[in-house]
Amino acid sequence: MTKITIPDLLKKKREGKKITMLTAYDFPFAQIVDEAGIDMILIGDSLGVVVQGNENTLSVAMDEMLYHTRIVARAAEHALVIGDMPFMSFQPGIETAVQNACRFLQAGATAVKLEGGEAVTDRIRAITRMDIPVMGHVGLTPQSVHRMGGYKVQGREQTMAERIIADAKAVEEAGAFAVVLEGIPLELGRKITKTLSIPTIGIGAGPHCDGQVLVLHDLLGLFERFHPTFVKTYANLKSQALDAIKRYKEEVELGAFPSEEESYK
Ligand code: KIV
Repeated sequence: MTKITIPDLLKKKREGKKITMLTAYDFPFAQIVDEAGIDMILIGDSLGVVVQGNENTLSVAMDEMLYHTRIVARAAEHALVIGDMPFMSFQPGIETAVQNACRFLQAGATAVKLEGGEAVTDRIRAITRMDIPVMGHVGLTPQSVHRMGGYKVQGREQTMAERIIADAKAVEEAGAFAVVLEGIPLELGRKITKTLSIPTIGIGAGPHCDGQVLVLHDLLGLFERFHPTFVKTYANLKSQALDAIKRYKEEVELGAFPSEEESYK
């Protein structure tokens, strides 16, 4: 399989072909996602919630993101690897943002993603000027959980919808190669997708986006704490894993495992 490039993604938008993206955080799952032919793998700061068990993503550290990026990059032969800039990796200033974006590339990512619209265009501009591709992220931005008062759909009211459109346009103008639209009404997702020339990647932004992204643990049924409307669970790995582990426990306790077959003669 050949490696997906940023021009390939832009071509997909021009040709009306849908773009696929998923998160991954470790080697075996990154290999599976890659083998399935997914276009982009995001090492999302969502790992703070689905892997580390935190309430939100705010405590995820840059070093933790780099650790997972190295692992995922090792597994990805086809997919474009994107490192998600965690809280505090770009908020303090332009220089911090550029430095941390560079660290993601050294860890094996091809691009970085950062949350925010007009307020972060100086960061996006500075990073892209260093030839580091940037993916934007507007609408429901999980790092703004306290401002939003929880993970709520954004842009239902006209003024907020206009704000999100302006954010998406600003991100494009600043040089982003694509933008994640999260947690917005589908009509707004459609409008932004028509307006922008860069691909829009939706998560809870309806079917009209140029591509879709989901958190892998949601798709596979490995995360149960909450279940947003936009998540479709394609497998129930939690119950399969639970079943397998219970059978192992039972067989060890009964003396049925290991049998002669699993023993050295
Ligand atoms: O952190 C993450 O996984 C994300 C995606 C949900 C877009 O930002």
